[in-house]
Amino acid sequence: MTISRIALIFLLSFSTVAVAAQPFVYREFDLFEQYEPYVSGDLKLSGSYEYWKDPANLDYRIAGNPDENWKLNWKFMDPPFNQAVHGGHFALDRGEDLFGQLNIKGRFATCLGVKGGGKSTSKLAGLRAGYPRWRDDLKRVAGLEEVIEHCANKQGRVLQSGSYDNSAVSIYLASFSNGMPIAIDVARAGPMKESFERGRKLFHLKAGAFNFACSSCHSHNIGRRLRGNIITTPYGDAAHYPVYKTQYMLQSLHLRFVECNLDTRTQSLLPGSRPYTDLEVFMTALSNGYPVTVPAERDW
Ligand code: HEC
Repeated sequence: MTISRIALIFLLSFSTVAVAAQPFVYREFDLFEQYEPYVSGDLKLSGSYEYWKDPANLDYRIAGNPDENWKLNWKFMDPPFNQAVHGGHFALDRGEDLFGQLNIKGRFATCLGVKGGGKSTSKLAGLRAGYPRWRDDLKRVAGLEEVIEHCANKQGRVLQSGSYDNSAVSIYLASFSNGMPIAIDVARAGPMKESFERGRKLFHLKAGAFNFACSSCHSHNIGRRLRGNIITTPYGDAAHYPVYKTQYMLQSLHLRFVECNLDTRTQSLLPGSRPYTDLEVFMTALSNGYPVTVPAERDW
């Protein structure tokens, strides 16, 4: 046997091992929908957009009717319609406090991506409306909560994505973008578009004990009742996160994914994990053009 033959056999056996080690992964997808990366795209999905497109002028008669109010995409629980003082406002105060501690030398703001950084909070306007975005330092697309965690870490502080304090800082930062339309670009070729496409695919991936995809509910059963909740469109949702949940404290968008995964008996992932960021990019693009509205609350 020549050396090259031995080498060939060696290589072949190696590749068979490599193939055998790769487990067969079963993947099934729900019917794919066409989505526009803009909030008015809902007109082609559920049509409910016409009722909630102007958050400052919601129809109070629809808001007061428990059978109809889902058509407002729960926007009557957001400011300016919702004038109540709730846990989200206390979170905002906590966020302001933490931001003050972290931004003593203006470095936290610089790290978050505020042009020129510095201590002045006036420069925070619009920051939230442009996240998720590509981050050169992380070499990936990241949502605002992941970046808050990253920038706090650089100062030796632990502010884990999904924690109360992380969401509080996120709400505080978002408050400077209140009324400004979400604007992320997923149309131009590049990492944001790739993330959007992965998110769109994940949204239709069937998984868990019931073999549900996100779209099984949020695209194909909009307006149907599910254990006391009525399912609404995925358009416009990302604009009011993190949200104050009347049952328990604050919920970031990634924690909402955890909840929907657990509700459908699907293994949930960690807040800040790559697939959740892709879902966040997908859902945020579906909020493009819709104003940031914090602090909002939700009952379910
Ligand atoms: C079995 C049905 C079901 C599945 C599957 C499901 N959800 Fe939900 N989801 C709901 C219900 C019900 C609510 C609360 C009412 C609403 O806003 O639709 C909700 C709420 C949400 C919200 C909050 C909406 C808001 O106004 O704040 C988001 C975001 C969300 N789901 C995303 C997802 C994602 C992403 C997936 C897939 C990982 C998913 N959901 C899977 C039923 C489902």
